[in-house]
Amino acid sequence: MKHLIAPSLLAADWSKLPEEIELVNQSEADWFHLDVMDGRFVPNITFGMFVIEHLKKIASKPLDVHLMIVEPEKYIETFRNAGADVITVHYEACPHLHRTIQQIKATGAKAGVALNPHTPVSMLEDVIEDIDLVLLMSVNPGFGGQKFIYRTIPRVKQLKDMIAVHNTATLIEIDGGLGMQNIQSCLQAGADVIVAGSSIFGAADPMSTIKRMKRIGSEFPKLT
Ligand code: DX5
Ligand code: ZN
Repeated sequence: MKHLIAPSLLAADWSKLPEEIELVNQSEADWFHLDVMDGRFVPNITFGMFVIEHLKKIASKPLDVHLMIVEPEKYIETFRNAGADVITVHYEACPHLHRTIQQIKATGAKAGVALNPHTPVSMLEDVIEDIDLVLLMSVNPGFGGQKFIYRTIPRVKQLKDMIAVHNTATLIEIDGGLGMQNIQSCLQAGADVIVAGSSIFGAADPMSTIKRMKRIGSEFPKLT
């Protein structure tokens, strides 16, 4: 499968949000990545379902909603009704993860589970067959524009092996500190979805940056 690019609106210029959304609509990007933060699970606050409901009206691509909140099970249906197509909860925020995954799937949304950089990939062994996506954090969640943690690369490989053993179609999404300098390594390791915030919206030409990100191959560069 060709990899997907999910621009994170966190890094967009919110004073001209409709234009930023239209840019992504017109681009080769695949999903909108939306970072919901509650100031409790992470030390930052962003936006919630009310904003997503409005974004849904002008976004023409699937909404990939990354919930960095405590007790996400309280809000799953509301986020789905607001327009979320993929709903990802954090492993670290879900004492009854299996139940929460079933709750997401019951709404008709794709179910994702995110892991913080310190959480072993093996923690997902018993739910990997139930989920559509694993989001590996490659920075500590809470802020855009942080430095990529390179230890993520072997974690992607480990997860890819787990998915192969279980023979599931689970997607691997990487989130945090991604740009032209490290996307290829992530793809080679087995990533399917690349989230990028500042490297897209901070670029001089976001549209062509997305295009270049889509063109990156997972093969090793050929020697000439
Ligand atoms: C961080 C968020 C990321 C963030 C990525 O907690 O989950 O989605 O927006 O931003 P960049 O690409 O700037 O690291
Ligand atoms: Zn995110």
